[in-house]
Order: sequence, then structure tokens, then C-alpha cells
Amino acid sequence: MARIVLFENIHPSAREVFTAAGYEDIITHASALPTEALRDALRGAQVVGIRSRTQLDAELIAANPDLQVIGCFCIGTNQVDLDAALAHGVPVFNAPFSNTRSVAEMVLGEAILLLRRIPEKNFRVHQGFWDKTADGAFEIRGKTLGIVGYGNIGSQVGTLAEMAGMNVIFHDVEAKLPRGNAKPSPSLKRLLAQSDVVTLHVPGGKSTRTLINEQTLAVMKPGAILINASRGTVVDIDALHAALQSGHIAGAALDVFPTEPKSKDEPLDSPLRGMPNVILTPHIGGSTQESQENIGREVAEKLVAYLKAGATKGSVNFPEVSYQPPAGNARILHVHRNVPGAMGALSSLVAEHGLNIVAQHLQTRGPIGYVVSDIEGKVDDAVIAVLRSHPVTVRCDVI
Ligand code: NAI
Repeated sequence: MARIVLFENIHPSAREVFTAAGYEDIITHASALPTEALRDALRGAQVVGIRSRTQLDAELIAANPDLQVIGCFCIGTNQVDLDAALAHGVPVFNAPFSNTRSVAEMVLGEAILLLRRIPEKNFRVHQGFWDKTADGAFEIRGKTLGIVGYGNIGSQVGTLAEMAGMNVIFHDVEAKLPRGNAKPSPSLKRLLAQSDVVTLHVPGGKSTRTLINEQTLAVMKPGAILINASRGTVVDIDALHAALQSGHIAGAALDVFPTEPKSKDEPLDSPLRGMPNVILTPHIGGSTQESQENIGREVAEKLVAYLKAGATKGSVNFPEVSYQPPAGNARILHVHRNVPGAMGALSSLVAEHGLNIVAQHLQTRGPIGYVVSDIEGKVDDAVIAVLRSHPVTVRCDVI
């Protein structure tokens, strides 16, 4: 049975999934470890689970030939050298959807608070003022929510907002099936001009850098609200600062920033600090107890599906073979160089040992091919040794 080593206080829901699947050899570490201690802790592990603070570089991956699969119990995977993992035949999994609902709930909550001007009212009462007025305070019911980026999170925000009586419009660079009564907007400009609340759910990177800038802010309705819980680079902060100061934008909520503090003791450097009706949160849109529990379960289930059946669907670096019900006595997981003749070599080697392939599923990705073969007959150590020593083979396991 595989040895599983988990770092960084991964939620106990992961252990529950592993033990229910029959995996008992589980070692847990409460935090990320410094390089030398990490090297020791990885020795002999077939399955490694990390969060964002453990760096698995090419050298660490190469130094652990027993390593079969890596689970990132988080969203991001740039702490792992994904190409090195692929080159060693190691799939990497993450949890892209587990915190979707958490972000969506926060966004809806912020829309309600900002339209009511609660952040500044809260601040005033704390200061000893009792400004009891309805000026500038609105319900969200009947208002238009404009969603920029209608992917996992954006579409979930739309569903929640409709439940609260908002009209939902969205803009995406890809054609998307609208949920509920949401309507696609023909352009970003049209969406900005029509929305009382604009919420951003696009990826980071060059194509979305300062998507919200002086020009696009100017198109927004006077008195509109802007929410960004996507990536900090999407908003030009100085332009937003000016639009808030002029009153053109009535309020904003930002969970992400172009440059974020590296530790809890480092203050956020932003002109938006101290502004009334601006909610600033430390990139916690997806951080809830529920999302941690979901992440633990989602990633552990993917790891178990790989260990038990060789399924790589949802892997971030690997050819994707979805779950296939077992069709023979044994299943060979063969990772090979993606070159002509690789499949032929595998078939001949298996046939030479009197084994019959009864089902086979191949996928390739760049330099690597991955084939799951169900075999009738006994796949003994000698067969595996021959397969492993073939020059085309990157790794080979039998389950
Ligand atoms: P997703 O990939 O499911 O959706 C992104 C959508 O944006 C896609 O439909 C894509 O076609 C669209 N898009 C890309 N470029 C666009 C453009 N220029 N204009 C309009 N649409 C565009 O991603 P998901 O999971 O919904 O995440 C959205 C964002 O939220 C990401 O930036 C992610 O990093 C961030 N995020 C933030 C969290 C937080 O704690 N604040 C937690 C989780 C995700």
C-alpha cells in the first residue's frame, strides 16, 4: 500500500478519504519544512500532499523515484515544477473548484454592504457618530449586477445574485451558457455602462492587466460599485482611487492587489487604505472552513482515483485519462516518451509474456504518452521489470 506524506496541516477530510479507500500509511506534518527536512520527509513517499508553501522543484522530484503522484491541496500549482513532474511520469492534481462558493458568497455580501454604504457607516459609529440617514443607501433587489468573466466563480455569483433579486448580465471572451436568467452582454463597455455593481472574475495575466482603468471606469454608471476578488493586476488602483475620490464610483471591495504583502506583519501599501466605503480584505475570498474541507476531499479523491485506477482526469500537467472500470485481472499504467513505436513496444513486450490486453486507453501531452492497459493473465514482477527497463518507458506501475 502506498505511503502518503502530507504537509502544511491539510484538512482531516483528506485523511478520511484515504483511510476509507484502505490507505493507512499516512504521515502528516503540520507545516511546510525547510529544504533539508523536506528532502528527508519525502524519502519513500509514493503520494505527497502539499499546500502553497512547500516548493517541489525538479531536483526534489528527481531525487524521489518512488514518488507516484502529487496533490496540491489548494488552487495554485506554481510551487511544483510541473514539467519536471511530467518528465518523471508524476501527475499533479489540485482543487480548482473547492472554494468557488466561498468567493461567490463574499462578493454578494460585499455588494449588499456597499450599496447600503455600510463600511463607512460602521466606521462612523465606531468613531462615535450617529449619522442616521437613508441617503445613498440602496437595496440590491432589482439592481443590475455585471459579471466580467463568467467562469466557475462568476457564474456562481450570478446564481446567488439572482436569488437575491438582482438582474444579472455578464461578459466573457468565450461563449458561455447563461445560468438562470443571466444575459450575455455584447461588450465589456456595454456591461459597464449598464451595471449598478460590477464584479470581476477573470484570470490574471497579460490579457486582463488593468482591464479596469481610467477609460473603462469612466464608462461605468455614476454611483456604481466595483468588486475585485480575482487578481490584483486586473484593476488600475490609481485610476480607481481617483474615481472613488471624485464620487463617480460610490464604493469598492478589493480582495486582491497588484502587490500583496508577503507576511501578516507587512502592511498593504495602497492609496485605498482609509477610504470610506471601500472594503479591503487580505486575499481571503476563497478561505473558509468549508472550502478547506472541500479541498481536502476533492484532492484526496483525485489521488485515490489515480492510485486505484490510474485516472488522471483533472491533472494539471499530465495526459488526461478518465476513470475506466477495470476490465482484466491487472492494470498496467505505462508512461512513455511520446515517440513512434512506443505503443508497439508495449504491446509486443506484453504479448511476449503471454498476456492479453483487453482494454486500453491512451492520451498524450507534449513529450509524454500515458496508456492504461487492462490485462488478462498474471502480471508478475518480471514483466514489470522488462517494461521498466525499455528505453521508451518513463515509468511503469501495475495496480
Ligand atoms: P475560470 O477560469 O473558471 O473563469 C474565468 C473566466 O474569465 C473564463 O470564463 C474566461 O473565459 C474569462 N475571461 C478570460 N479573460 C477574459 C476577459 N479579458 N474578459 C472577460 N472574460 C474573460 O476561473 P475562476 O475559477 O472562476 O476564477 C476567477 C478568478 O478568481 C481567477 O483570477 C482566480 O485566480 C480568482 N480566485 C480568487 C480567489 C480569492 O481568494 N480571491 C479564490 C479563487 C479564485
